[in-house]
Amino acid sequence: MPSAKIFYDSDADLSLLEGKTIVFLGFGNQGAAQAQNLRDTGIPNDKILIANRPDSYADDAKSKGFIVENDIAKAASVADVIFLLIPDQVQPRVFNDVVQSTLKDTATIVVASGYNVFFKLLQFKPTQDVVMVAPRMIGSSVRSLFVKGQGFPCFASAEQNGTGKALEIAVALSRAIGATKAGAIASSAYEETAMDLFAEQALWPNIITLFREGFSVLKEAGCSDEALCYEMWMSKEPAEIFERAAEDGFIAQLKYHSVVSQYGQLSGALALDGVAVREHFKNILHNQVLNGKFCKEFSKIEADLEKDGYDNPLNELYRKTEETELVQAEKRVRARLADLIKSGQQ
Ligand code: NAI
Repeated sequence: MPSAKIFYDSDADLSLLEGKTIVFLGFGNQGAAQAQNLRDTGIPNDKILIANRPDSYADDAKSKGFIVENDIAKAASVADVIFLLIPDQVQPRVFNDVVQSTLKDTATIVVASGYNVFFKLLQFKPTQDVVMVAPRMIGSSVRSLFVKGQGFPCFASAEQNGTGKALEIAVALSRAIGATKAGAIASSAYEETAMDLFAEQALWPNIITLFREGFSVLKEAGCSDEALCYEMWMSKEPAEIFERAAEDGFIAQLKYHSVVSQYGQLSGALALDGVAVREHFKNILHNQVLNGKFCKEFSKIEADLEKDGYDNPLNELYRKTEETELVQAEKRVRARLADLIKSGQQ
């Protein structure tokens, strides 16, 4: 696989956005950050429209001086570019039933996540451009890094080239929200979805399981709940390790650990059966993520996620997880050591 292309400010032609009306559907985590960045890049305020149902997010947009339209179909009708920045699970309903009914045939549709595009849950017209501009950070960091004059990691791609200019527009929009300052990585909805869902459904479940089982083994060996919580995560040591891994290198960060630790970590990792883990990971990637099995199952329960109590399947998963030894112990420790925890937050 060749190295990915990186787009910088100098690759972007902001004049492609001149005179265009840019609509942000949603003013939440990403919407608020990206709309403000785009305006601060020089897109005139009267060319930016926030399409938002009347709620606290709409109020926030108004308080920041944006023009807000509560009628989403009306806002979509004037869009040359429309950023879809409402939660992924509501996008198909809102886009297919409301937005697309009035959207121009030559509009550019921007997604910040590959999911709905890769699984073909959004119905586009062939003459429309579909691009992905997907920051790899939460919205508050997208904004704060921009304000500091820095870029932020972001994936950019053209998924459908209706006008013949989709990629150039994707790069111009990446620049307008401040993503090409540090370099936006050329990617695709496929790559973004594969990596995102793999991390969520393979990597992190394994990490949660390792911590849960590690906790129980050490507890059985006589370690206290208090010591375990601090040793394993409440001291923030894992957060520091990942911070160092990002700055110095995934393995290079080991130099900050003792020699005993370095020897133990490297010899332990090499001795583990990577083949079994790899097979397990491949199975999840191919037979759960990429073949659409998870997407189909999630679509079935999606409407229930708005229910209260344990009829909501997510609440039921939290309830089951709460029964584990690690979560129960942490609750007791947090209640007992509130002052110590507060001191760690200062
Ligand atoms: P969010 O949860 O902050 O969205 C809130 C916005 O959606 C508000 O404007 C709200 O009025 C609107 N909204 C919620 N339900 C609605 C409904 N039923 N009908 C109409 N409007 C509704 O969304 P967030 O987290 O900013 O995600 C937006 C997109 O950005 C998603 O595609 C997500 O995958 C992507 N993304 C999010 C990141 C994050 O930091 N949260 C990071 C990178 C990408």
